[in-house]
Amino acid sequence: MKKIQISPSILSADFSQLGNEIRKLEEAGADMIHVDVMDGHFVPNLTIGPPVIKALKKQSSMIFDVHLMISPVHKYIKDYADAGADIITIHPEATEDLSLSILEIKKFKKKVGISLNPKTKIDVILNFLNQIDLILIMSVNPGFGGQKFMPEVLNKVRELKKIQIEKKLNFDIEIDGGINFDNSKTVIDAGVNILVSGTTIFKSNNGDIKKNIELLKSK
Ligand code: DX5
Ligand code: ZN
Repeated sequence: MKKIQISPSILSADFSQLGNEIRKLEEAGADMIHVDVMDGHFVPNLTIGPPVIKALKKQSSMIFDVHLMISPVHKYIKDYADAGADIITIHPEATEDLSLSILEIKKFKKKVGISLNPKTKIDVILNFLNQIDLILIMSVNPGFGGQKFMPEVLNKVRELKKIQIEKKLNFDIEIDGGINFDNSKTVIDAGVNILVSGTTIFKSNNGDIKKNIELLKSK
C-alpha cells in the first residue's frame, strides 16, 4: 500500500505571509504543497500564477503539487513547469487534446496529474491511465476552499483503485475538497493516498498545523 501523504492547500493560508506559511508547513511535516491556480474563467475565482509559484519555490524544497483550474490550459503548461511545479494537474475539460497536453507536461519532465470534477466520469481518462502519475478526484466543485465534501465521488475512487490493482498501475489517487477529520478515514479506505486540505489544516485546532496534519494522516 502507498504511504498516506498530506498536501496542504495554500488557498487557506495567509496570503500576506506565503513564504512563512510554506516554511511552517514543511516544518510541520507536510509531504507536499498544493497550489490552487484559478483563472476566473474555468472556475469563478482568481488566485495566483507562475511568478508567485517561482518566488515560493525558492522558499522550500518540498514538492509543488500545482492544480491548474485554468482554460485553455495547454499553452500555459510550460510557464508552470518553468516556475517550478513538480506535479502539474490539469482538467480534461480545459484542453482541446488531452493526449497532447499530457505529452507537454512530460516534455518538461514533470509528473502528470489529471483532475476529475464531481460530475466528470472516469471514462475520459481510461485510455491514458498508463501515462498518468496522479488522479485528483474533486470532492467539491472547484473554485473555493471551505466547501462541503461530496461523498458520492468515492465511487470513482473505488473504481479507480480496482482498475489500478487489476492493471498493475502505479498512479497516485489524490482527493481535494472538504477533507476533514470525519471523512479522512473513509477516503483512505476507499483508495486515496494523497489528501489535499486547506480549511482543516489551517483553521482547525486554532491553526495547529502539525497536529492537523498528524490527525489527517492517522485517519
Ligand atoms: C478547490 C481547491 C481546493 C481547496 C481545498 O477548488 O481545489 O484545493 O482549496 O480547500 P478545503 O480543504 O478548504 O476544501
Ligand atoms: Zn486544488
